[in-house]
Amino acid sequence: MSSMNGKVIAITGGAGGIGEATARLAHAQGASVVITDREAGPVEAIAESLGERAIGLAVDVSRRQDNERMVAAALESFGRLDGVFLNAGIEGEVGPFDSRSDSAWEKVFAVNVHGVRLGVEAALPALREAGGGSVVITSSVAGLRGASGLSPYVSSKHAVVGMMRCLAAELGPEGIRVNTLNPGPVDNRMMRSIEEQASPGHGEEVHKAFVARVPLGRYVTNEECAGMAVFLFSDAASGCSGNTYLVDGGYCSQ
Ligand SMILES: NC(=O)c1ccc[n+]([C@@H]2O[C@H](COP(=O)([O-])OP(=O)(O)OC[C@H]3O[C@@H](n4cnc5c(N)ncnc54)[C@H](O)[C@@H]3O)[C@@H](O)[C@H]2O)c1
Repeated sequence: MSSMNGKVIAITGGAGGIGEATARLAHAQGASVVITDREAGPVEAIAESLGERAIGLAVDVSRRQDNERMVAAALESFGRLDGVFLNAGIEGEVGPFDSRSDSAWEKVFAVNVHGVRLGVEAALPALREAGGGSVVITSSVAGLRGASGLSPYVSSKHAVVGMMRCLAAELGPEGIRVNTLNPGPVDNRMMRSIEEQASPGHGEEVHKAFVARVPLGRYVTNEECAGMAVFLFSDAASGCSGNTYLVDGGYCSQ
């Protein structure tokens, strides 16, 4: 029997690369999934393609009521909640630190930091009711290292590592595990946006420069990130809390 059988997992950013791959893998291993993203259409289509044990729902993570609706949908459809994958994120604008507007910083923090905070707050009553659970927050190697030109994003991804550590300390006694997934550059939309913004018209060169910094010689995949996220929700990870889990092809080894 898979260690995901019977578990109910809510996922934000579920129409994106890592979110969809995680929804599909968790579902394939027996979980019921509430797949959410900003727009209903894409997540409803993913849920429909999975069939039983999957629903899609429009959720803007920066809104408290939306996070609460996500948890209510899990309870209504599947009767419990065992885990939340707080994965929605935006890269924001790329550029020098002192050229970023107030609103550029606020937008990134509203989604990447407050979206995570609101997701945790919404999920806690249901996780307590279930007698414990697992919270996985998508940070990044940008939560552990600096990067030129990406200050709002990097700051936001460091912030959720701090949040995770506080939550793990506070919630451990209640059987709630909290960890971050820290991907390196992933072969998907977000990296293509960062590459193109970093050097408009020359994204391919930026891509090559990033790849050159990865010991495995390539970007990691959505599915490789999903494998780590699903592990952290599974019973196999019952001893794991308060840590950063890298899927980075060796990026942070040097
Ligand atoms: N792609 C990478 O290289 C990389 C590396 C490290 C970490 N990450 C992180 O992984 C997570 C998933 O990103 P991805 O790589 O799948 O990129 P992605 O852009 O494909 O997915 C992000 C998803 O978040 C959704 N989203 C954005 N704002 C939202 C909001 N306010 N409410 C709800 N959903 C919202 C988007 O619609 C999108 O579907 C993000 O937190 C990202 O920062 C990505």
